[in-house]
This record gives sequence, structure tokens and C-alpha cells, in this order.
Amino acid sequence: MSNAHERVRHEGLRSKIMTADQAAEFIHDGMTVGISGFTGAGYPKALPTAIANRAKQVHADGKSFGINMLTGASTAPECDGVLAEAGAIKFRSPFQSDPTLRNSINAGNTEYQDMHLSHVEQQIRQGFYGEMQVAIIEATGITEDGKIIPSMGIGNNNEILKVAKQVIIEVNVAQNTKLEGMHDIQFDIGTPPNRQPIQIIEPFDRIGTPYLECDLDKIVAIVITDGGDRNSKFAKPDDTSKRIAAQIIDFFSHEVKAGRLPKNLLPLQSGVGNVANAVLAGLLDAPFEDLTGYTEVLQDGMLDLVIAGKMKTASATALSFSPDALQRFNDNIEFLRDKLILRPMEFTNNPEVIRRLGVIGMNAMIEADIYGNVNSTHIMGTKMMNGIGGSGDFTRNAFFSFFVSPSTAKDGKISAIVPMVSHHDHTEHDVMFIVTEQGMADLRGKSPKQRAKLIIENCSHPDYRDMLRDYYDHAEALSAKTGGVHTPHILTEALSWHQRFVETGDMRIK
Ligand code: COA
Repeated sequence: MSNAHERVRHEGLRSKIMTADQAAEFIHDGMTVGISGFTGAGYPKALPTAIANRAKQVHADGKSFGINMLTGASTAPECDGVLAEAGAIKFRSPFQSDPTLRNSINAGNTEYQDMHLSHVEQQIRQGFYGEMQVAIIEATGITEDGKIIPSMGIGNNNEILKVAKQVIIEVNVAQNTKLEGMHDIQFDIGTPPNRQPIQIIEPFDRIGTPYLECDLDKIVAIVITDGGDRNSKFAKPDDTSKRIAAQIIDFFSHEVKAGRLPKNLLPLQSGVGNVANAVLAGLLDAPFEDLTGYTEVLQDGMLDLVIAGKMKTASATALSFSPDALQRFNDNIEFLRDKLILRPMEFTNNPEVIRRLGVIGMNAMIEADIYGNVNSTHIMGTKMMNGIGGSGDFTRNAFFSFFVSPSTAKDGKISAIVPMVSHHDHTEHDVMFIVTEQGMADLRGKSPKQRAKLIIENCSHPDYRDMLRDYYDHAEALSAKTGGVHTPHILTEALSWHQRFVETGDMRIK
């Protein structure tokens, strides 16, 4: 308990310390609950299991028990996973990546709203989700005067602490106490028509305080936990990811030479997943110094750039590391304290700031079509994978917007370049570069027909290239008859590749 005393420095609040099972009694069927957590970092470790156990008991009595759950982004098996497994999530937003929750969504048992992360806080604030009864957030500690020291992620904590009627804090003694001071939280930017500009002029500017705050009377429970974050491993960059990374790095060199990019590039954003992480790993050996990061989630690749001295500073809303990278982070935390900054996701993903800083956005995709439209979220048009996350916030507003993917998935049975995307997340108007291991398509300043030729010839896998050429040629010929040559399509065939996969398990024609 002495550890608990050191972490909960506010004397009055210590009387609120209780077990997770006791705290779970505050949660009732149908409540809207804000839960901390962003890409497997900073989510509550004990309450979700306690709530899931309650849900199972209530269900056993034949009654309903489920919550409407709003997080920062994805959490982990011991948060999203246990709750979904207990059938306790009626509604969920914004981003998730847990396999059990994904199955619950795709089985129709959980309603899921996928949305841009930059929209979440303002929509909670303005009451789009109705009243939020409880906020459950993880913290590293609580100061003498009741300020909350965030842990490895902030996400939407700032907002849910403000609007929730009751607050439960999990103080996780496994989180490094030296995190104190690394956060930058500004409380009130106001609401339209009186919203104020966000004063982030340089990517590392501090504009707020290092603490979260809420009315202390709202804190109904404090639970002490001692558990690590999700800390998923990344796949070691393979040949495919290395080839994708090498092309982006070559392109950067070319743009620096052409005077269209400064020598230290522009602030970098890197999306979730193995391929995006590999691109950053590639920058370790690239000839660029004094890089900066202005991203949403900071993963192993960016951490290693900072530790190696290649990147000066990085701003994010969460730190999501593999176990090895977490060790490197803890070993170097004194060095990193004035180089990494964690902010609310309303700031990291803010379109105005991203546009003004000229961020270079690099995100992974599920598929792109021959005209440069991108699907980041749906498998075969209907099954939710994870969600759009911040990819739209960055892509629409980036100085350069990249989408990367291997040219095929599932042992070549699926082409990542298709005639028409089966779900639309990023439009041809926002996507500037598509990169696969086959090559890169620079779509800037091109018409749809010019883009189609580049994407097919440069990015598609040879197994699918003739099929794509064939589709395009037929579409163009057919469109000539109907006067639709601007963006040629054969509407009855545009999604036939997906249909063939659904029916035969392969997009290729046998
Ligand atoms: N059809 C079917 N499955 C596909 C596919 C396609 N066209 N493309 C990829 N997949 C599958 C892969 O086979 C793999 O499946 P597995 O987990 O069963 O092995 C899985 O999707 C992940 O693919 P991978 O190639 O390893 O890429 P990744 O880890 O880089 O993830 C996304 C790719 C698109 C799923 C991921 O980046 C994502 O969720 N993006 C959307 C959110 C986002 O961009 N956030 C960042 C904003 S800051």
C-alpha cells in the first residue's frame, strides 16, 4: 500500500481507494462510459474485467447489461477484449483493433461508429452522444493538489474527465513515475463560434500544463493496478516493407534536391501497423538529420529515430511500444523527457495544425483503386477491420499524403490494387502517393486516367497487372460510347474481383 500512497499524493483522495470489483458497482446497464486508452496504451487494466464479470452475472439472471463505450482509440484484450467477450459493449466508438471486439462488431452484436479521431472530443463536448455517466481513466499518479498525471496515452481523457458525471481513476504503479511532465494539456479551446486557435507553431511547442484535471468531487473511486500496456510486437521489417520504405526515402531525397522539401524534411506522421513502422525504421539509415515528428501514435520506429539522435523531437497522443522498445524507452527516459510530448488527440490530429505545419502523412491501407481512392477499414466492403483512426485527419491535410501496402494479401489471393475500392475512406482528391513493393505512383497533378496508368503500371502485382490493364482498356472503350471517359468504369464489373474472392477465395481468374 505504500506504493499506493506515493502515487496518490492527495490525502483526501486516498479514502476513495477501493477494489476494481467495488468500483465496477458504479457501472450500470445502458450507461455511456468514457474509457481511456489509445493504440494499446493507457487503458484501464482492472475495471474492464470487473465490469465484464458483472455483466456475465447479470446476463445469467436473464437481464440486460451493456455499455456505450467511447475510448481514445484501440485498447487491449483486457479492456475491449474482455468486455466484448462478456457481451457488455452495446455501442463502441471510435477506433478498435481487438479480434474479439472485431468479431462482435462483424457478428452484429456491437454497434460500431467509425469516425475521424479529430472529431471525437468536440462531438462529446457538444453532446452528440448524450450524457456521459462515467469516465474511467488510467493515470500514473495523482499530485498533492489532486491533479492527474497521465500515463502512456492521453487520447480523449481531457474531454471525458470534463463531461462525465462520475470519474473512476486507475492508478497504475507499473507506469514510470518519470512520465510526469512529459504531457501537454490545454483545457479549453472553446466551442464555435468562439473557438480559439491552437497555438502550436512549432511541432514541439508547449501550450498547456502537464496534468489532467477534474472536479475532485466527481472522483468516486480510485483503483490501484500494476500491469503493463498491450505492448504488441511488430513484425521485423521484411523485404516487402524495406522496398516500400526505400522508395519513400529516395523520393524524399529527390524532393530535397528539387527544393520542394527542407533538408530535415517536414514533421512526420506515421500510421499504425507493421508497414508504417518499417518506413520509419528505414529512416534510421537515411541521410536526413534533425527530423521532427507530429503524429498520433508514436511506435518503435519513431522512438528509435529519437534515441539515435536523427529526430529532434516528436509530438503524439500515445506511446505504443513493443516489449523491447518499452525497455529502451524506460532506459532512456531522462534523455527522452524533453524530446517527446504527449497531447490530447484533438490537438495531435487537428486538421488546422496539420495543414499549417505541413505534416508528411504516411499510412497503411487495405486497398486502393486504379484512380487513387483508398479503403483503410473494410475487408471485401463489409467486414470492419480496425477503423479509420487518424488516417483521414492527416491525409486530407498533409503536405504529402502517402498510402503504403504490399501489392497483394493472403498469399497473393487478394490484390491491394483493384478496379474500384469496396469501401471508401480516402478519396482520390486527398491521396498523393501510393507505394507498394512494386513501385510508387506519384498522383500529384494528374487526371484520373493518368493516375490509373501510373497505379496499374507502377504499383500492381504482376499477377494482377494484365487483369487491371484489361479492365481499364474495356472501361475506357465502353465509356467512350456513353461519354463517361473522365473516370472510366464498367459498373457491373467494378466490384467483381471482390465478389470472386467471396465466392472462390481468390481474386484471380482460374
Ligand atoms: N484484403 C484482405 N485482408 C487484407 C488486405 C486486403 N486487401 N490487406 C491487408 N489485409 C490483412 C492482412 O492479410 C493482415 O491480416 P492478418 O492480420 O490476418 O495477417 C492484416 O490485414 C494487416 O495487414 P498488414 O499488411 O500486416 O498491414 P498493417 O499491420 O500495416 O495494417 C491496416 C494495415 C490497413 C489494417 C492498418 O494500417 C489500419 O488499421 N489502418 C487504418 C487506421 C490508420 O491508418 N491509422 C493510422 C492513423 S495515425
